[in-house]
Amino acid sequence: MKFHIFTFGCQMNVCDSDWIERALIARGWESASESGAQIFLINTCSVRDKPEQKVYSLLGRLRNYCRNRPETWVGVGGCVAQQIGRDFWRRFPEVRLIFGPDGVASVPDSLERLQAQPDLRISLLDFEDSYLERDAVPRAGGAAPQAFVNIMQGCDNFCTYCIVPYTRGRQKSRPSVRIIQECRDLIDSGVQEITLLGQNVNSYGLDAGGDGTGFAELLEQVCTLPGLKRVRFTTSHPKDIAPDVIEAFSRFPALCPGLHLPFQSGSNRILKRMNRKYTRESYLEIIQGLRRVRPDIALSTDIIVGFPGEFDADFRQTLEVMQEVGFDNSFSFKYSDRPGVRAASFQDKIPEADKSLRLSLLQKEQDRLTQKSLQGLVGRRLEVLVEGPSPKTPPDRGTSWKGREPGGRIVNFSDSGQDLTGELIPVKIVDAKKHSVFGEVDNT
Ligand code: SAH
Ligand code: SF4
Ligand code: F3S
Repeated sequence: MKFHIFTFGCQMNVCDSDWIERALIARGWESASESGAQIFLINTCSVRDKPEQKVYSLLGRLRNYCRNRPETWVGVGGCVAQQIGRDFWRRFPEVRLIFGPDGVASVPDSLERLQAQPDLRISLLDFEDSYLERDAVPRAGGAAPQAFVNIMQGCDNFCTYCIVPYTRGRQKSRPSVRIIQECRDLIDSGVQEITLLGQNVNSYGLDAGGDGTGFAELLEQVCTLPGLKRVRFTTSHPKDIAPDVIEAFSRFPALCPGLHLPFQSGSNRILKRMNRKYTRESYLEIIQGLRRVRPDIALSTDIIVGFPGEFDADFRQTLEVMQEVGFDNSFSFKYSDRPGVRAASFQDKIPEADKSLRLSLLQKEQDRLTQKSLQGLVGRRLEVLVEGPSPKTPPDRGTSWKGREPGGRIVNFSDSGQDLTGELIPVKIVDAKKHSVFGEVDNT
């Protein structure tokens, strides 16, 4: 069977899609291009209206394709699937499988059943009480040198704008022995860098599924695994980041000096309405603490503009925090109403034109900060984990490679030698581009 997976949304979806792909290949199925596939899987994101709409337009396109080919059909998974559920069957008859985030583990079996019984439809929408383990499936030879490892599922925070607690369910921590075992297996298969994944990794272990191990302890266990070169984790919530986790950035050489720490708004009044449970001041203290232990740490963040009730004065405070921290990178979004979340019923919505203006001001400021951050790398010698050939090959410089420095920024460099994928290469940075830097191998 030939299948094609479309993936929208966060790294948890990327990780889920990757597992499904490997599990299907292990069963003899074949991953194909869009035009060569019989079964289409769409792993969806519901975090804002835009990614949700993209799913419907893709389904519209696939409907035309499937209409003329009776043997082709579609499975829809992820957060929009959980949100809309069996309604998909009414609206899109070519959809035969619907699976939520907790249904991922059963997708390969379900696809085989659906293939054997053409009249069957399956929905996998129940939330589990505890973290559901998935079958271990080997990674292909020559696979990327980095991997994601899920440490939890779901979220209990109920930020008032956010749909994730409804689509991914309650927080469920995965037992630490399972996490460590998966990390060991990945290292044995050649992985150099592991990113621990969860919607809110700092509260790992604090739910009923916890086995007594907290996040700082888990991080220590992973960072000290023999043979592992790099560790990252995402996403962190400022209210839960423990002093031990901040300290970890100076204690463990494997822990990369980069952190994504969403602050969402610089106004305490808006943070309160968002139910974020920290203040602008406590956020800035965390940043200070991080820079004290790791002065070169690269920092990125998420910001929402135009949350209901956000005045210009609130927005200016957001801009101030952005400038005060001087983020190396940020992702900013216009507030988008999501069905069923608390903020959807707030009355004081912000006009679209104001949201657009605020977004463009933030993004302009971030472009300036990103340039400053990238310029700051010029002249430095950094270790780059090579991810593969770079599409940006300067015509006169042989093969060009793309990788990341420890802070997570993209580095392109050229080298005429053999395939460097998966290797850690010392690179001297010579030039800053818009979103990346360019360097030369420096073996001195
Ligand atoms: N668990 C992570 C990521 C959540 S979703 C965290 O807690 O940080 C990723 C980002 O999308 C959020 O950080 C937020 O900035 C943004 N986001 C979530 N819901 C949104 C909404 N309704 N409108 C606009 N942006 C939203
Ligand atoms: Fe959403 Fe907040 Fe949970 Fe992040 S912490 S997933 S923003 S509810
Ligand atoms: Fe989107 Fe669901 Fe991730 S809503 S951001 S795919 S948790």
